[in-house]
Amino acid sequence: MGIHFGVDYYPEHWSRERWETDAKLMQEMGVQVVRMAEFSWFKMEPEEGEFHFEWLEDAVAILNKYGIKTILGTPTAAPPAWIVRKNPEIQPIDRQGRRRFFGGRHHDCQSNEVYRGHIRRFVTAMSQRFADNEGVIGWQIDNELGNSHGDLCMCSSCRANFQKWLIKKYGTIERLNDAWGTAFWSQGYNSFSQISTPLITAVGENPSAMLDWKCFCSDLIVDFAKMQADIIRENCPKHFITHNYMCFDNKVDYYDLGKLLDFVSNDIYPAGHWQKQPHQPDNELAASHDVVRGYKNMPFWIMEQQAGMAGWEIMGRALEPGQMSVWAMQSVAHGADAVVFFRWRTCAMGTEQYWHGILGHSGNPGRTYEEAKSLTHRFSKYMDEFEGSMPNAEVAIVHNFRQNYAFDIQPHHPELSYVGQLYKYHKAFYDKKIPVDFIPDTADFSKYKLVVAPLQYLMTPELEQRYIDYVAAGGRLVLTMRTGVKDATNLCMTDRELPGRLGDICGIEVPEYDCLIETTGGVLFGKNEYETQKWCDIITLKGAKQLAEYSTGFYKQTPAVTENKYENGVVWYVGTEPGEELMEDLAEYFVNQSGVATLGSAPAGVELMTRENDSKVWLFVINHTNDEKVYSLHDSYVMLEGEHEEFLKPYEVQLFVKNKFGRKD
Ligand code: GAL
Ligand code: ZN
Repeated sequence: MGIHFGVDYYPEHWSRERWETDAKLMQEMGVQVVRMAEFSWFKMEPEEGEFHFEWLEDAVAILNKYGIKTILGTPTAAPPAWIVRKNPEIQPIDRQGRRRFFGGRHHDCQSNEVYRGHIRRFVTAMSQRFADNEGVIGWQIDNELGNSHGDLCMCSSCRANFQKWLIKKYGTIERLNDAWGTAFWSQGYNSFSQISTPLITAVGENPSAMLDWKCFCSDLIVDFAKMQADIIRENCPKHFITHNYMCFDNKVDYYDLGKLLDFVSNDIYPAGHWQKQPHQPDNELAASHDVVRGYKNMPFWIMEQQAGMAGWEIMGRALEPGQMSVWAMQSVAHGADAVVFFRWRTCAMGTEQYWHGILGHSGNPGRTYEEAKSLTHRFSKYMDEFEGSMPNAEVAIVHNFRQNYAFDIQPHHPELSYVGQLYKYHKAFYDKKIPVDFIPDTADFSKYKLVVAPLQYLMTPELEQRYIDYVAAGGRLVLTMRTGVKDATNLCMTDRELPGRLGDICGIEVPEYDCLIETTGGVLFGKNEYETQKWCDIITLKGAKQLAEYSTGFYKQTPAVTENKYENGVVWYVGTEPGEELMEDLAEYFVNQSGVATLGSAPAGVELMTRENDSKVWLFVINHTNDEKVYSLHDSYVMLEGEHEEFLKPYEVQLFVKNKFGRKD
């Protein structure tokens, strides 16, 4: 597409006289694309059926004159007051049964037919109006679907839709009663019409009902997006459709949503005040990019990247010189074809007055603008070539939304989180400078030398078979604690000891376990003792060999980690959540045993990552710290950007290339 850097732009916040200045400054900065209008419904339709797109056409035209293309957002995350006053029933109901009202955003119920009618009218008009506009190249549906919507919505429309969804899934109420285990606490239903949305209870929840509810909410969001995508596809066949995701967020199954999109986009705010301070660690950002690339197994866009201090009522840390560029190029290293900065100019009004942009309130170009400009000037020339290239990972980590939902419902341990555990496994490889893919559990495992499948808690016979086949054919697989515990409807399985049929390839049984509440445990691996956390499976060997043993608890000296050869492959079972050092050393062992290659060696805070196409491999070396660092590479490359090979200045990004074997160009 040839478009690689951009900004999120809100011309409606500024006077018309300023727009040309903005466009000129953007052009000088190297901006090739803006996203606009995703919160401007009132300005585009101040009264029902009265459309005012002239101002937006005007903005698109000015930008286009400066060579800047536009992505339009559908503004359905912020229905205007006149819609809400006319149809107050579209405002959502929370779990306490209270209505949430107009005044912020996302004050809507996504299943409500009246609201959907308003959306159909509006999106039809907007997409028809911009279909042939030469400045427009694509669409973003809504904004961060699932965000701000937390526990919503429990209204009667959502209840009716949930019932319909359940009828389709179960057919008869008897089947639902079985699948939800309603014999417990007298929860049986006589008919689907008795089932409610999960309003707050006196105490406790049915885990099976909650899992279906989360899956229903995900399907509802996908359906909500599809309604808009269908209209846009019909009216704007020349345009792409994307959506801005939120990394690992789990309100909607991003693999499902991705099927509607031409490519996935993502938003990153590494130094938001809610992040670990002073900012989210580079390994977690790397993991986010890897999972986002995995949602469609293709390059993605960053649709919002933090460009300044972020905050609504409370603010996080200011960005140090070079940090914004490091985050941008880290995204590119992991497969982003374009980076769009949020936002162009810090806005003077509303909730986000302190969510700082490329320009400050004054609109004068300053430090951030200059940094962005030198970034685009330095890297734009390579970006066309990067387009479409992908990392070539030998290690995959399995990621699945339903497992995530199930651990949200029953985390076992107050600090156990599904994504937290994925981060930990990912970090062990990241620190060793080994590229990782996140893959859904339906992906082709066979192309990886090592597949790590943490917390395979909900299990089906099909998934068991996929793991068995992978290992039988020579694959190396890591399974962990809490594998094979539940069936697909979140009922505990009872036909075998844990981990169910996968016990055959693991060569173990897990008849008992311990939860390390408010304590940690110990593990002996090799000559060292390590800390272990949160959970200990108590393992009986059934053919496997012990790799590590517990050094604490009544199960001291019993296996904590096992290894089993099964047909042509190997399965390791990790019965606990390893502390950081144990994770590091276990990963080292798995990597060596699997013949996985590393890109080089470098200290913490220095990242090595590659992207490649048929002819070339690009290597990115990124210093995420404010200190000087040294590193070494395991292969020889030609340096394209950077000063001294094997030496990095603070926040320096270096770029290397090599031709693939057998090519002379
Ligand atoms: C994002 C959102 C933007 C803006 C930004 C700053 O999550 O997509 O619309 O709100 O945060 O708060
Ligand atoms: Zn609702």
